[in-house]
Amino acid sequence: MNSPFSSKNLRRFSKSITCKCLVLVGIALFFRALFLSYSTRNSSFLFRARYMSDSSSTAHKFLEVPQIVWGLNNQKIAFARACLTARTMNRTLLMPSLSASLFYKEVDKLRPIPFDKVFQFERFNSLCNGFVRLARFSDVRNRTHSFDLEKGSGRRWTVERDLEQLKQFATNEFEVVRVVGKNPFLWHDHWPVKDYAKVFECMVVVDEISREADKVVKRIRQGGGDNRIMTGLVPFVAVHMRIEIDWMIHCKKLEQRLKVSEICSSKREIMERVGNISGLKTPTVLYLAVADSLLDEESSVLTGWRDGLVPFEKKKLGVKEEVYGKYSYLIQSAIDYEVCLRADVFVGNSFSTFSSLIVLERTQKMRRLGFTSACEDGENEWRSYAYNLAGGSKGVPRRWMTNMTHSSLEAISYGSSSVSCSSE
Ligand SMILES: *[C@@H]1O[C@H](CO)[C@@H](O)[C@H](O)[C@H]1NC(C)=O
Ligand SMILES: *[C@@H]1O[C@H](CO)[C@@H](O)[C@H](O)[C@H]1NC(C)=O
Ligand SMILES: *[C@@H]1O[C@H](CO)[C@@H](O)[C@H](O)[C@H]1NC(C)=O
Ligand SMILES: *[C@@H]1O[C@H](CO)[C@@H](O)[C@H](O)[C@H]1NC(C)=O
Repeated sequence: MNSPFSSKNLRRFSKSITCKCLVLVGIALFFRALFLSYSTRNSSFLFRARYMSDSSSTAHKFLEVPQIVWGLNNQKIAFARACLTARTMNRTLLMPSLSASLFYKEVDKLRPIPFDKVFQFERFNSLCNGFVRLARFSDVRNRTHSFDLEKGSGRRWTVERDLEQLKQFATNEFEVVRVVGKNPFLWHDHWPVKDYAKVFECMVVVDEISREADKVVKRIRQGGGDNRIMTGLVPFVAVHMRIEIDWMIHCKKLEQRLKVSEICSSKREIMERVGNISGLKTPTVLYLAVADSLLDEESSVLTGWRDGLVPFEKKKLGVKEEVYGKYSYLIQSAIDYEVCLRADVFVGNSFSTFSSLIVLERTQKMRRLGFTSACEDGENEWRSYAYNLAGGSKGVPRRWMTNMTHSSLEAISYGSSSVSCSSE
């Protein structure tokens, strides 16, 4: 009788189990050896990673970025880039500091200001829910062990290598990955315009800034409150007019470097093209968003506009001290940004980042209303123009919508003359 439970079979059976076990142990030892040889090469990293492995993998992982600097526009772009970096790494962005002042090099004067003093924190997370998320530093369980990620630099640090690095470090065990060094504006860009637009939509200014913008917009629509000029509320065109000396020097250099002749517009050219915008009612108020340096030279920007267009700047409106004067550079820019955003018509320079961001947001608002193109030159809501580029003829400004299909934000960060009336 040869029952499967005979002692002989049982012995053979147990022998084969022993064999299998030995093989498995062998395999395990082999992989362990591989792992160890790898870990001696990367000892500090793996040691620190194992040190942290008690933090459960389901817990949140975070990304920390350096203080965000420069003007409002560059700070908005840098912030969005930090959010999208965190998204690529499957991490939550720790709320970064913005900078209240515009100092480029004197680091000690870069007055840090928390993101939530300018933009609404909870609102951001609810609007961007499922896309990107912000966390507070108090959400981190243990900040003593974070991983410092140094981004590469130089010509050999390509976009591809940068993205590879982000993906590689996304999976590491550390609760916090901290990017050290360069500010996010200078990082490589890996994201399409649509992704940036989504982040910008979630950035809603805090109530205080919004109320100040309301105050300015109301004063504009009342024509400065002088009922000899007009009664009731009138439409307004915001013109982001860059003709100050600093800009003129910058744009002339840019024209030479890029071999483009349509970057610098003179005051006369801006006045002619804005005056030729179709369908403006009379009277219409022009809000001239100009550099402070132009306000002091007894405002020659206020004269020379065609009849029916009533120009104002901050000083003539009486809001320079009353509203803007109370705030830091960054908040002043944020108020101006809101005012231009809310204008019936916006006219800017396609080589200005400030103008480009406003047009991007207005384009997004138009698309939400169902318009992907504005080529008919009708009087749609949220319409925008570039005064530095000729439209249908030389004397009219070009209708401007942001091309939402671009695969990077380059045209918006650095300006472009290939601007059109369609968003696709
Ligand atoms: C953070 O982690 C370190 C090292 O693991 C430990 O010594 C320290 O007590 C931890 N702190 C807290 C607050 O858990
Ligand atoms: C992030 O998570 C998603 C889904 O959980 C996964 O498909 C993706 O590979 C992860 N990305 C990285 C860089 O780990
Ligand atoms: C634009 O306006 C100017 C006057 O400011 C006028 O001479 C010119 O013909 C206009 N151009 C067009 C195309 O309407
Ligand atoms: C928008 O950008 C895409 C991709 O860069 C391009 O193919 C398309 O022609 C552009 N559209 C317009 C209206 O310029």
